[in-house]
Amino acid sequence: MISKPRGTRDFLPDEMEKRKVLENIMRDVAERYGYREVSTPTFEHLELFTKKSGESILKEIYHFKDKSGRDLALRPELTAAVTRMILEECHAMPRPLRFYYFSNCFRYERPQKGRYREFWQFGVELVGSSMPQADVEVIALAYDIMKSAGVDFSLHVGHVGILRDMLKDFKGETAQLMRLIDKKDHKGLQESLESLNAPEELIEKTLTFTKLLGGPEILDEAETIAGSSEHIDYLRGVCEMLDLLKLDYSVDLGIARGLDYYTGVVFEAYAEGLGAQNQICGGGSYRLAHLFGSRDIPSTGFALGFDRIAELSQFKKEERGLIAVVSVKGYEKEAIKTARELRTRYQVVTDVMGRNMKNQLSNASDIGAKLAVIIGKEEVEQGFITVKNLETGKQWKSSIDELISGYEQFLE
Ligand code: HAM
Repeated sequence: MISKPRGTRDFLPDEMEKRKVLENIMRDVAERYGYREVSTPTFEHLELFTKKSGESILKEIYHFKDKSGRDLALRPELTAAVTRMILEECHAMPRPLRFYYFSNCFRYERPQKGRYREFWQFGVELVGSSMPQADVEVIALAYDIMKSAGVDFSLHVGHVGILRDMLKDFKGETAQLMRLIDKKDHKGLQESLESLNAPEELIEKTLTFTKLLGGPEILDEAETIAGSSEHIDYLRGVCEMLDLLKLDYSVDLGIARGLDYYTGVVFEAYAEGLGAQNQICGGGSYRLAHLFGSRDIPSTGFALGFDRIAELSQFKKEERGLIAVVSVKGYEKEAIKTARELRTRYQVVTDVMGRNMKNQLSNASDIGAKLAVIIGKEEVEQGFITVKNLETGKQWKSSIDELISGYEQFLE
């Protein structure tokens, strides 16, 4: 027996149908904001992800050499891949670019509830604007998708620029310090700052600052601690617009994000009922293009943890009404012909197991068919079909056209 690799999952039809409904809801909201879908390769050159995604993700990358010795990697996320695609393919497209994607990603993490080695992200990238309106648009879009998905969440909005400025004297160590902040490891942060001989006052300031959480008014406090800055003003402007749109959120100055490419406003959403892996969305504004030899392109985006949201959402596929065409021995050919005609409107199955009539009918009930169409000698010779309601047992003499014209008449 060979089982699936650790951290991967199989999805059976019930689960798949639920995921499809959720996926379509997400697509619908993104498209209402004017975003269009893109798709990039499942694997890329390893270098694409090692340039700036950060050390933590590096350890998590599935990478391998192909038969020609190239270093390739399964994508751990899509922001770097979409940036690469834009530089390679989208020179002539009008700015800004509004793209969305729904794709599987791979990370070599320790699997647990809500954390997988293959998982799906629904994400967007808004590329080409450095205005606060761009951040607001992307945050509002994430918010509307999560609302439409029917999950309870809290949205936190921060700004990595303020933190980076505070830590700018530790150049090479900033990424490491940001990681500790991201993990809310205040003790580790304090120890690291001490080992870097940071002045007492700065340690104090950093610890207080990263714990600031509340309404936009905490930005005044942030200013007292960190000094006034264009970043704080920018974030204030973003908050004003979020308030205007009546979004429910908290300002959280301790958001550092696990990836290193963020430069400005950052945000995360956490859901109830998921346990430790409760982050269902992460994003912010970032700069990546310059790493790939291009002019810098201000961009902002997010990715939703699709699997975590699917776990919480209660959607069910709308029933399409399955019909089973069953036949008496010797009339199988007529049955498959009838089934094909009915498929112009309905979901229809026929017997492929050589079952007798009784077993065909009981299998039809087992797979959830509401109606059976019976084809036998009398039906074929006299040119009608028998429609049987599998719940009530009631039967009608009917025709293919009549059944195609409407299904409900047989459901009473
Ligand atoms: P991220 O925070 O690394 O950001 O991932 C986004 C979301 O993917 C997380 O909030 C989480 O819900 C989900 N996720 C991450 N790892 C796993 C896992 N192992 N199993 C299940 N779900 C997981 C990014 O990837 C950025 N590219 C987002 C972005 C787009 N920033 C700008 N544009």
